[in-house]
Amino acid sequence: MSYSRKDLIGMIDLSKEEILHLLDTAEKFREINHRDVKKVPTLKGKTVVNLFFENSTRTRTSFEIAGKRLSADTVNFSASASSTAKGETLIDTVHNIEAMSTDIFVVRHAYSGAVKFIAENTKASVVNAGDGLNEHPTQSLLDMLTIKQHKGRLEGLNVAIIGDITHSRVARSNIWAMPRLGINLRLFGPKTMLPLCTDPFGVKICGNMEEAVEGADVIMTLRIQRERQGKLLIPSVKEYARYFGLNAARLRLSNNAIVMHPGPINRGVEISSEIADCGQSVILPQVESGVAVRMAVLYTLGTGQRGIE
Ligand code: CP
Repeated sequence: MSYSRKDLIGMIDLSKEEILHLLDTAEKFREINHRDVKKVPTLKGKTVVNLFFENSTRTRTSFEIAGKRLSADTVNFSASASSTAKGETLIDTVHNIEAMSTDIFVVRHAYSGAVKFIAENTKASVVNAGDGLNEHPTQSLLDMLTIKQHKGRLEGLNVAIIGDITHSRVARSNIWAMPRLGINLRLFGPKTMLPLCTDPFGVKICGNMEEAVEGADVIMTLRIQRERQGKLLIPSVKEYARYFGLNAARLRLSNNAIVMHPGPINRGVEISSEIADCGQSVILPQVESGVAVRMAVLYTLGTGQRGIE
């Protein structure tokens, strides 16, 4: 089965076959990123608009690079420099940009559900680049692509996600997607940052750091999402690092694990510098996978899946 949807809003919607189709397409695009001339004409004549109402380094840059490598015209919209500040509504903004014959919106917004709302109000394709604490589907796809690259498979792997699970759209997208592909998911973090119940999703909540890390094939740490927390959920950053940070002693419990982080990392808090830069860390390969995944998503939505040239 291929991917025939207009939009990519969340991993919650996708079947195993649709996820595998996007991952297979991304694997084919990897090679283009290593050519001398990193460009194919696939999206020539299409216009991709990056509509970012929240800050971003990796996602916005890689969507722009992905669009350019597919020969699309890419436009970056920055909320702080737009007429949003003069009171224009979200949908009016979208309709005005759509009136310029744009084809794909890549949207990041602080409100959960804002991207779906846009998708329901435009004929253009819409990609969720992160909406509030809801979902970040292309991050989940690039996480799985990176795991497959380093472990050779997804089925049957033990993946531990550690940190601020409740406020993380990355965790939420992976919780929807990974078990669908046969991954055993474990979660650990402060009780104030963990979901109360994950049984319906087939995800295990661990009681301590050792239980989460021991025997894991992949350890993914997350930063504290302060911008989405209404109140202080931990006594101090120092104590968080002591009880929930990934360091060399803890990583020794799983010598074969790869270490992941969606970024931005806070060195010395959720992950020590020593671990962020060690041989087991695939944090930068995750960023590399992001370009291939975003090429695959733009290509799939923008072309109806013509062949890769
Ligand atoms: N992982 C991620 O979404 O990073 P940015 O916020 O820099 O885009």
